[in-house]
Parts: sequence; C-alpha cells; structure tokens
Amino acid sequence: MQIIVVKHQKQANELVGGMFARILQTHTHPVFGLATGGTPEGLYQWLRASDLDFRKAVAVNLDEYVGLPATDPHSYAYYMRQHLFAHKPFAHTFIPDGSAKDLLAAAAGYHQILKDHPRTIQLLGVGRNGHIGFNEPNSSFKSTTRVVALTPSTIAANARFFKSKDAVPTHALSMGISEIMAAEQIVLMAFGTNKATAVKNLVAGRVTPRWPASILQRHPHVVVVVDEAAAAQLPVVTLKHAIHQ
Ligand code: F6R
Repeated sequence: MQIIVVKHQKQANELVGGMFARILQTHTHPVFGLATGGTPEGLYQWLRASDLDFRKAVAVNLDEYVGLPATDPHSYAYYMRQHLFAHKPFAHTFIPDGSAKDLLAAAAGYHQILKDHPRTIQLLGVGRNGHIGFNEPNSSFKSTTRVVALTPSTIAANARFFKSKDAVPTHALSMGISEIMAAEQIVLMAFGTNKATAVKNLVAGRVTPRWPASILQRHPHVVVVVDEAAAAQLPVVTLKHAIHQ
C-alpha cells in the first residue's frame, strides 16, 4: 500500500487526475470504478476542466440509494451526471438501479456487469466508520452487490446532502467488498479530521470486517491519498515511509 500525504486537496486531485490520464494513455478501453460523495468532487472538477477524453472508457459506480430514481437530484446517478458524465461523455456508464422493483435481480445484474467489465482502477472514498462503497462495518469480505442497510452514523454523515436526516434513504444497493477487491488497482482518497480514525485503521489496523477498508491491506496495488488532517492518527513509522507532497 502506497501512502501519499498532501498539504492541499488540490494536489490530491491533480495526482489522481494524473493517474486517470495515464490509464487513458495506456489502455484502449479502460474501465473506471467511480465513487460519489464529497471526497471526489474536486477530482471530478479537475477532470471536467482537463482535456481528457473518456469516450472509449466505461464507468462503473459503487452504489446507489434504494428508492431514488435517476431523476432525483439526491440520487448518485444524478450526482454523476452533474459532476462528470454530462461534461465528459463515456462509452458506457453503469450505476446500480436503486429504484428497481426487483432489487435482488438488480443486484445480480450488477454483479454480472462487474464481471463483464473488470475495472482498470477503482476510486474509493471511506466512511468515518471505515465503510467502502456502502459496505458497513461487519460486512463480509466475500460480499457481492446487494441491498445494504445504512448505519445511523452513515445516515447522519450524509444528511448534509439532504433537507434533514429523515430524508436520507435507509438502504442502498452497493458493490460488495469482493467486487471492489477485484479491481486491478485501487485509489482511495480521504480528507479531514473526521476520516483520521478510519484512515488509521485502514492503513495500520488489524484486517477485520469491523473496519471494512482494512481489507485493502490485502490488495497488491493500492494508493491511499490523504491530507494531513486525515493522516493525523497514522503511526510515525507509516508516516516516515509515506510520500509527502
Ligand atoms: C460513495 C461511497 C461512500 C463514500 C463515503 C465517503 O459512492 O461509496 O463509500 O465514499 O461515504 O463519503 P464522503 O466522500 O461524502 O465523505
């Protein structure tokens, strides 16, 4: 696992944007696993302003709220259109269908989509409780796409995007941990003090479903890009070996 500590989020966006650019240069039909939420907003802004061409690339998103159609401004489908897809067309984009009548079938269909589109890179954020995708604490490392119940702490954290906590959907359709781990490479971004404990457990804690992101220690190609606030609880020895920018 390579740890990169940046002074400013802008540097993180440039760095990950640069990784995306290299993938576009070296792969004819790359598949980008993408995330939503506050963390990648700056990266998407960087990509929008770039001259990168994604028309031969495929995007596969991590998750979607259950019950929100793609037209709902709070849905992740809407978020992706707003932040990236409307500005940078892809050959194809996939997001789990959280408004499907048959969610079990939608989950199984998404699992097949992931099999058919092995990801060149998977972008991740991390929840304060260590979730990746919406794989909340105690999710199985073998999990695949399924309906998950969001924990009260995730609902509270995401309430900032809604009118109130009560408006946050209670469930999501999320890529599973085994599917996240199947990506060729993974890049995780985390910013701010409230991610520091999750980052410590992801990088230097025991590998345990209690902290789902800790499984990333077992992946051969992971880059973790954090700002100094998110790196604040990392052990000194980890920080010594980290790249500081
Ligand atoms: C988003 C996702 C989540 C977020 C995480 C952090 O698609 O799967 O795991 O990455 O909840 O969210 P933010 O970036 O809003 O702090």
